Amino acid sequence: MVTITVQPELAIERILTLEIVRVTERAAVASARLRGHGKDKASDQAAVDAMRRELNKLPIDGTVVIGEGEIDEAPMLFIGEKVGNKRGPKVDIAVDPLEGTTLCAKNMPGAIATIAIANEGTLLHAPDCYMQKIAIGPGYPKGVVDLDAPPEENILNLAKAKGVKPSEITAIMLDRPRHADLIASVRKTGAAISLISDGDIAGVIHCADPKTGIDIYLGIGGAPEGVLAAAALRCIGGQMQARLIIDTEELRERTLHMGIKDPKKKYEIEDMVRGDCLFAATGVTSGPMLDGVRFGKNVIETDTVVMRSVTGTVRRVRAEHREFAKFHLD
Ligand code: FBP
Repeated sequence: MVTITVQPELAIERILTLEIVRVTERAAVASARLRGHGKDKASDQAAVDAMRRELNKLPIDGTVVIGEGEIDEAPMLFIGEKVGNKRGPKVDIAVDPLEGTTLCAKNMPGAIATIAIANEGTLLHAPDCYMQKIAIGPGYPKGVVDLDAPPEENILNLAKAKGVKPSEITAIMLDRPRHADLIASVRKTGAAISLISDGDIAGVIHCADPKTGIDIYLGIGGAPEGVLAAAALRCIGGQMQARLIIDTEELRERTLHMGIKDPKKKYEIEDMVRGDCLFAATGVTSGPMLDGVRFGKNVIETDTVVMRSVTGTVRRVRAEHREFAKFHLD
């Protein structure tokens, strides 16, 4: 069940749910044109350009808090960039115009274009560093798993709460050498592991979708991706905890500058997304969550999921775009 903790007058205008679908659709179509071309940077840039163009048409007064990087490293959708036509609510914006750049470049499953919008000042300003994360879907008692508990204990507690054997639990994590010990610990319990090459926003969201068969996300991925995933879970329910990995003095200074005083803080979903939020993702390549962009003869088809935290509503928007197809406007 989704807990509504936002006063109705602070809820983001619901019409924006439809508006942000346009934003991720455009980004997805733009990057999908370069699917399988082996060009990570070009497909990312195409998504960024399209997303920025579309965002600037929205009736919002937005600030990018999770974006393509600091102003000196990203000319567009940089952290602090103002977006929107200024004729609307003040909001924080987190974007990953192309999540899974390598997946797109290699035309592998699971690349998405994604965005979250929340009340101004309510999204965690996470630097572009790693983040340790744990997430499960809705319906479990609070605290059944914990970021600081040994992985074996988390799997056993989750299995007990689900009423299944540990061998009937499936964990998901990024396939990285840094996870060697984690993988060994989880396998010791008999649980299965789904290893993904990229794309851990979707990895976290899978925990909340029984169709995927995934019960728990574990491991280390990007911090910006962590905030976007937290926004999605805030809408659909589930539990997530996370901690930034601040391992250099330079990063420590950068996080301080971003207002993070305690670099070891364990974040709950409500610390990462403190207000009402909207989340949308459009498939670039087909994956377990979304279908990829389909280029037809006179039509382009997109598949988007869009969520709203204040109500917990999740909509699936399958769109046919005749204008994009006609004018190649992306
Ligand atoms: P990009 O889309 O920026 O390439 O990120 C893909 C991704 O797999 C994320 O989903 C994940 O959080 C991060 O990279 C993990 O980083 P690394 O590849 O350095 O382990």
